[in-house]
Formats: sequence, C-alpha cells, structure tokens
Amino acid sequence: MAEPILEVSGLVKHYPLMQGVLFKKQVGAVKAVDGVDFTLGKGETLGIVGESGCGKSTVARLLCNLERPTAGSIRFKGEDITRLSGKALKAVRRNIQMVFQDPYTSLNPRMTVGDIIGEPYEIHPEVAPKGDRRRRVRELLDVVGLNPEYINRYPHQFSGGQRQRIGIARGLALRPQVIVADEPVSALDVSVQAQVINLLDGLQSEFDLSYVFIAHDLSIVRHISDRVGVMYLGRIVEIGSDAEIYDHPTHPYTQALLSAVPVPDPEARERRERIILTGDVPSPTNIPSGCRFRTRCWKAQERCALEVPALAVPEGFRGASGPAVHDSACHFAEEKQVVPPEAAENGNGPG
Ligand SMILES: Nc1ncnc2c1ncn2[C@@H]1O[C@H](COP(=O)(O)OP(=O)(O)OP(=O)(O)O)[C@@H](O)[C@H]1O
Ligand code: SF4
Ligand SMILES: [Mg+2]
Repeated sequence: MAEPILEVSGLVKHYPLMQGVLFKKQVGAVKAVDGVDFTLGKGETLGIVGESGCGKSTVARLLCNLERPTAGSIRFKGEDITRLSGKALKAVRRNIQMVFQDPYTSLNPRMTVGDIIGEPYEIHPEVAPKGDRRRRVRELLDVVGLNPEYINRYPHQFSGGQRQRIGIARGLALRPQVIVADEPVSALDVSVQAQVINLLDGLQSEFDLSYVFIAHDLSIVRHISDRVGVMYLGRIVEIGSDAEIYDHPTHPYTQALLSAVPVPDPEARERRERIILTGDVPSPTNIPSGCRFRTRCWKAQERCALEVPALAVPEGFRGASGPAVHDSACHFAEEKQVVPPEAAENGNGPG
C-alpha cells in the first residue's frame, strides 16, 4: 500500500444523551462512532459505505477537525491532529477539506459563486494574496468544468450538478492534500452523478489528492474507490480492496448490502441471491453486546452475543491467501459471491 496520509485508530464519538427539563442529567450516550480504524494511503480513494445513521458524516466531521473525538487518534502524515489547537490546527484544517452532500443547502444563496469559492482565502490569507484571488477563483471554475465568466452569478442560477462543481472548487481552493467527500452525489440525478464522480476522479491525479468518499450505496463507490470500508452502527465491519469487498465479501452485512445493489443485466439479476435483512437497525444509544450486527444476522450464534469480533483477518482464513483473506469483523466469516462478477463489471453503478 502507498505511504499512509491518514491513520485513524480507535476513533470514538459519543454524544451525551440528556434528560430532564430543569435539571438536565446525562442518561446515556449516542454512540455515533464507536471504534473506527482505517488507513488512507497517499493518492488513494477509500470508500466508506453504510446505511443511514451508521456514523459516516460524524467520521467525516472528525477527519476534517470540525469536531473533537471522544477517544482515539487521527494521524495526518504521522501527526495526531485531534489534540492540536491554534495555528497548528488551522494549518492542518487547510490540508483536509470537505465536500458536502447537498449542493442546495451547503452554498450560501446570497453570495456570488466567486465569493463562495474564494471564502476559504479569507480564513487562510497566506494561501493567496488578495490581488490574486479572483484569478485563482476563475482558474478553479475552469478546473471543475464551469465557465469562469460565471464568477458573479448566484447559486440559484446553476443546476444541482453545477452547484456540486462549485462545492468541489471551494474544496480545492486551499490546495488540500485530502478531500473528505460526504455523499457528494447522493442528492444528484443519476445521470449527473457519473459526471461529478468522473470530475473527482480526474482531479485526483491532477492535484495529487487522497480521498475519503462516503456513500450509502456500494454501487456508487465501486468506480472511484481503491479500497472500501463497510460501516455498521459506528464501526467498520469489513474493509479491503475493491475486488476483495465486491467479489469476495466475507461479512454477512456486506453480503446483504451487495445483494441489494442494482444489477442492470436482467439475466445476472436473476442469478443473484437476494439477502433480505430482518429487523431494524438498533439505536446507537443501545448497541447490542458482542457483535453489533447480531440482531439482524442470519448466522448469529451464542458466541456472537458474548465476544466482540475484531476487525482483522478472521480465524478461518488465517494462513490462507487470496482475495477472501482481508479484514472482516465476524466470528463465522465465510466467502460468498453475491453479485455475479460480470454483472459487477458491466455498468454496476455510474460512470
Ligand atoms: N450532534 C449530534 N448530537 C447527537 N446525536 C448525533 C449528533 N450528530 C449525529 N448524531 C447521531 O449519530 C448517529 C450517526 O449520525 P451520522 O450523521 O454520522 O450518520 P450517517 O451515517 O452520516 O447517516 P446519513 O446516511 O443519514 O447521512 C445518528 O444516530 C445521529 O442521530
Ligand atoms: S459475528 Fe456472528 S452475528 Fe456477527 S456477523 Fe458474524 S455471524 Fe453474524
Ligand atoms: Mg451523513
């Protein structure tokens, strides 16, 4: 793997759950992120996928230092950034920028596009001297495929896809090394999703970027990710290269998610096994003991309630080799090909 740019270890974010009107007291915690570990290599794209509420956006905010974790560390080029303050914090924030999900609400409607994209320079004036900012903004518009003449227009004058391009240009303004994209295409029409993903893909080599790309659907990240981590209730339950996760998943949750991915070819769709999960996702205030997936897992046994499965190569695979051998937090991990490989190759997802 490439030299690591981000190393996340034991990352936890618990929000206190308060009760009472006059005298508020803490009665529990929302365990939004509950022990996340991963490494992002330089120039790599790590996809993070999971259902709504599993903690993806919280991870994104922690990575961008918009919030402090309850525990754990995030190392950027070897330095733990979770305890920085003042100038050092500001410097590292510049290097890890976020692209948000919703291009409708994340752009200030009363600001021109030029001011929106150039706003980061107000916070980091050292990056671009005042006299040079307009030129830079025009250049950024061009880079994301928008006409630089649009610099004085307002967000409402653009389509959803164009607005996301504006959000990306803003994310690039400070020349960051890492971009955390939190569901950057989920709010867009399917036809536009591929264009925005292709744009991000192209910018990666041009600007030497490393990406954390968050999505709730495995089909969206396949095209852009080198590796994929699958999240469930605040934790990554399986992580591996794109081929390992899509073609050789070993965690029951990943297998269930994959069985729901749209397969365009009707014949392949016929052959695919659907795994329907029963039961609701448990509340992050009340996480099941042992394996957190056990209340919905068709393979659960007694051991699953007693022992937390570590995110590591599972027992049954130790000493073996091949794409099924990768980190999977399951006591009874087994390889299962859910999506026929040719279906996964052919247009499974945008792009
Ligand atoms: N500031 C907060 N205070 C209390 N609870 C929070 C806070 N932020 C998030 N949560 C809770 O933490 C959990 C994880 O939320 P998060 O937004 O990270 O999930 P997500 O995976 O991004 O979901 P979605 O796919 O819907 O965007 C949810 O149960 C959410 O309600
Ligand atoms: S550890 Fe048990 S409950 Fe958890 S995923 Fe594996 S089989 Fe299912
Ligand atoms: Mg989210």
